Amino acid sequence: MQDEKPRLGVIIGSTRDSRFADKPAAWLMTHLQDDGHFNADLIDVRDFDLPFFNEMASNMHMPSQDARALAWQAKIADYDAYIFVTAEYNHALPASLKNALDQAYKEWNQKPFATLGYGGLGAARAIEELRGIGCALQMVPVSASLHVGGSEFLRVHPLGQNEPFEVLDGILKPSLGSMLDQLEWWTEATRSARQKTLGQPGKRTMAVAETLKAMAGETTA
Ligand SMILES: Cc1cc2nc3c(=O)[nH]c(=O)nc-3n(C[C@H](O)[C@H](O)[C@H](O)COP(=O)(O)O)c2cc1C
Repeated sequence: MQDEKPRLGVIIGSTRDSRFADKPAAWLMTHLQDDGHFNADLIDVRDFDLPFFNEMASNMHMPSQDARALAWQAKIADYDAYIFVTAEYNHALPASLKNALDQAYKEWNQKPFATLGYGGLGAARAIEELRGIGCALQMVPVSASLHVGGSEFLRVHPLGQNEPFEVLDGILKPSLGSMLDQLEWWTEATRSARQKTLGQPGKRTMAVAETLKAMAGETTA
C-alpha cells in the first residue's frame, strides 16, 4: 500500500534567455495541481548551470565528480516520474536537455516519463528521440504525449499571436487526460517494483557485474 502521492518532476529542457518554454510549463503545472494525483515540482535545467558532460564515465560505472552534476543527480533522484517540456531545435531535442539526461543514469532508471512538446510539428521528432534516449536510460516512455504544433503553436508563441496558453485548453485537455492516466499507471507499477527490489538491477546483471569486478581485480593485481 503506497500512501504518499507519487512525486513528479516537470523538467524544462530549453535554457536560452528568451525561451518560450515557461508558458507551456506554467500551463501544465496548473493542470497538474488541479488533477491532484501527483506531487508535482517544476525543475528548470537552467538553474543547475550544468557543464557539458565532462566525467570519466556515466555514473552507472563510477560516481560523477563535478558538484553541479552531483546536485542535478540528487535533485532528480527524488522523483518517481517525469514530464519533459521540450522544444525542437533543428529536428532534435535541445542540446541542453540531452546534456542534462547524460549527466545522470541511475537516477533515471526504472521510472516512467511523458512529454509536452511544442514547435511546427509539436516537437514530434524531439519526442521520438527522447523515447529512444529514455530506453537507453532504462526508463519507460508513455505512449500518449502533448504536441502543440502548427497554427496552435503560432496562436500562443510570442512570434505569432501570443495568446494565453489557456486558449488551447479544449484541444489539449483530452490528450492531457490520457497522458496522465498512462503516467499514473506506470508510476504506480514502477514505484512498487522499485520498492520491492530496492532499485537494484536484476540478479543476472548483478552476477555479471561481480564477475567483471573480480576480473578487473585480477588484472590490476
Ligand atoms: C536553433 C533553433 C532551431 C529550431 N529548429 C526548429 C525545428 O527543428 N523544429 C521546430 O518546430 N521549431 C524549430 N525552431 C523554432 C522553435 O520551435 C521555437 O523557437 C521555440 O520557441 C523554441 O523553444 P524555446 O523558446 O523553449 O527555446 C528552432 C529554433 C531555434 C532557435
